[in-house]
Amino acid sequence: MKQRDKDRFHSLKMADAYNQMCQMLVPGYDFLQDTLINILKFEDIKEIVLLDLGAGSGIFLEKVLNEFPDSKCYYLDYSDDFIQVAKERLRKYDDRVTFIKSDFSGNWESKISEAPTVITSSSAIHHLSSENKKKLYKKCYGTLKEEGWFFNIDEMKTVNEYAYIKNLYYWVYHANKQKKQLSDDDKDTYLKWMDQFNNWKKRNVDDIDKPKKEGDDIHESFLAQLDWLKEIGFVETDVFSKHFLWCLIGGKKVCGTF
Ligand SMILES: C[S@@+](CC[C@H](N)C(=O)[O-])C[C@H]1O[C@@H](n2cnc3c(N)ncnc32)[C@H](O)[C@@H]1O
Repeated sequence: MKQRDKDRFHSLKMADAYNQMCQMLVPGYDFLQDTLINILKFEDIKEIVLLDLGAGSGIFLEKVLNEFPDSKCYYLDYSDDFIQVAKERLRKYDDRVTFIKSDFSGNWESKISEAPTVITSSSAIHHLSSENKKKLYKKCYGTLKEEGWFFNIDEMKTVNEYAYIKNLYYWVYHANKQKKQLSDDDKDTYLKWMDQFNNWKKRNVDDIDKPKKEGDDIHESFLAQLDWLKEIGFVETDVFSKHFLWCLIGGKKVCGTF
């Protein structure tokens, strides 16, 4: 059977709609990203060289570049369409951003000239199988500068299966509820976003018991993912914040070689 919506990120229509609507339609979107920014401030990282994996339309990088005027960023994504939208959004920070077009499984580390002090990702890594998530986490550990931090804000399972299912339904409830807040200008874009979101609902709610393939939403428990980070060598691992389906997990690299 053909995989539902396999190429969804390779569409300018999708990239545009996601860019305009995600802050309104993804529960806790800004809250979790702003929490991550606060952690970076609290940790007082002297030199921020930040790599964002699956950086999409560049909303998080825009916040980082704005909040940390001396920071430099690497943007990584495999979608030409998202890259196009992000280049427009980040135009004014052109000299501080390096764009890398690559799949997570590609040799992207060879395109990085300065070891990142922070690696982040939001709503992207959950598309990988467990095996490939672990591989990517390992690669992040290897790529980070010593004392560097890794953070992932992502759709994850929680400690109880029923609570997880309610978190899936919460997104559906939230996205429908937001319709009331829309300006007239946003109505068309909202409908485009909801078209796409209905496929998410089919894959994750209606077909919850069907097996998942790489590229689907492969939700993994945040506890299991924290264990992987620890096994790899990250310290100070934690779930720093959680909002329904989304968890902000991370850890710090201590030893230089891996
Ligand atoms: C749901 S969007 C999230 C974008 C952004 N991080 C945000 O939170 O607004 C997922 C992004 O991950 C990218 N992505 C998904 N799978 C990828 C892969 N295997 N390699 C590189 N990028 C990937 C997509 O192109 C898309 O831009």
